[in-house]
Amino acid sequence: MTARIIDGKAIAAELRAGLAARVAAIAAAGERVPGLAVVLVGEDPASQVYVGSKVRQTTEIGMRSIEHRLPAETTEAELLALVARLNTDPEIDGILVQLPLPKAINADKVIEAIDPAKDVDGFHPVNVGRLATGGRALVPCTPRGAMRLVKSVGTALSGLHAVIVGRSNIVGKPMAQLLLAEDCTVTIAHSRTRDLPALCRTADILVAAVGRPALIGAAHVKPGAIVIDVGINRVPGADGRSRLVGDVDFAAVRSVAGAITPVPGGVGPMTIACLLENTLDAHAARRG
Ligand code: GUN
Repeated sequence: MTARIIDGKAIAAELRAGLAARVAAIAAAGERVPGLAVVLVGEDPASQVYVGSKVRQTTEIGMRSIEHRLPAETTEAELLALVARLNTDPEIDGILVQLPLPKAINADKVIEAIDPAKDVDGFHPVNVGRLATGGRALVPCTPRGAMRLVKSVGTALSGLHAVIVGRSNIVGKPMAQLLLAEDCTVTIAHSRTRDLPALCRTADILVAAVGRPALIGAAHVKPGAIVIDVGINRVPGADGRSRLVGDVDFAAVRSVAGAITPVPGGVGPMTIACLLENTLDAHAARRG
């Protein structure tokens, strides 16, 4: 079997086109368009690239982007004061504080200071709790996007066994909640799991979110399984330049799986698209 390749780039583009139409309808009705505030503290190169993409894609679909770039020496009190201002600013629907933050700032404290109604990352404990209890939550962007890719395959999910490799708060745990909400039987595997290949081979849906290149090989995959690769790892390429690979050995797994996401072009493009979707959802919820 050769797996069907799930085209995250195309699915993200389709999602953004739908969001742009929603924003255009809001503007045409003479209403205030959604606004997303992105806060970057310091000069982490990867964060600068991510924030640049977020700002560009926000404006491309017609939403307002408000950027706050603060120096690395910014204090926790200064950042908390900015978050407090954004919380009460009626023109701001979403607040994203780019992680990681400088060591002197307690990231948990900052996340907990964000108004849960504007927490478009879905990291605030109120949203985490609502997701776990089946309430109306803002859902973390990467698992939200990964779930959309799972659904794009068109397989009925109820009763399927989903194995998620990785237990992070940003991906593994919320992904488990989303799959559970679709009536999957969910197992979370991690670095202490015994006989990972055998466990993974029981998965109808296998999600890899660890950050280790080629952790998942053909021996980990049940024939026909849906394989979602959340890993983004930079490794040296044959030509001396670095290239991006996932946590899945794509070439090996492709001949076993039923459907598989590539890296790049799989889950990656979905994350920002879902951030924009969360911002529109937050805008809609705040308008009532
Ligand atoms: N840094 C890397 N990924 C993310 C993300 O999804 N949200 C935020 N706020 N920071 C990040």
